[in-house]
Amino acid sequence: ERIAILISGRGSNMDALIAACAKPSFPASIELVISNNPDAAGLDTARNAGIATQVIDHHDFGKDRQAHERQIDAALQSHRISTVCLAGYMRLLTPFLINNWEGKILNIHPSILPLFPGLDTHARAIKAGMKLHGCTVHIVTEDMDQGPILGQAVVPILPNDTEHKLAQRLLKQEHLLYPQVLKHFLRKDEPEHSVEALING
Ligand code: GRF
Repeated sequence: ERIAILISGRGSNMDALIAACAKPSFPASIELVISNNPDAAGLDTARNAGIATQVIDHHDFGKDRQAHERQIDAALQSHRISTVCLAGYMRLLTPFLINNWEGKILNIHPSILPLFPGLDTHARAIKAGMKLHGCTVHIVTEDMDQGPILGQAVVPILPNDTEHKLAQRLLKQEHLLYPQVLKHFLRKDEPEHSVEALING
């Protein structure tokens, strides 16, 4: 399987996917990293790993979201990509790309969906008095953060947590969860582990 990753920034989840795919037993290879942001730190990480990168800056397309996505689509086609992983990609996809790649785009979201779709999930979970927080890998559909759930991992929210501390704690689980879920998705099997096993990696 040939995977593309779409990023907008740091790219730490991308990095976790690259590391996992580098293992011979992993059923996929990362063939392309696309960023809508020319300054995304993740671009350097991908280049250093020897992966093809492409910047497709949405600013170059004005308000024409579909024109931006047509270029992304062309890049995916030309690299013969089969599955797309969003990893901190901060733009909503339009039905154009979602329909062209129906059931083939995965996303990682930093909350226990369907709780807290959208932004600022860590702060919102703390504010809501939650004792648990988590992350979800799901299939991307037209309804933001509402596609079929493929896997979740959870972390505790501690008494003096800040948004930053919680985000850091969760990020470690994101890095374990995303490659695991991708592997099972590509193999079309079910994970044998419970959520608790995923907590402990
Ligand atoms: C992660 O928290 C991810 O769940 C969310 O955006 C953040 C991206 O971080 N979608 P990174 O770019 O993967 O480091």
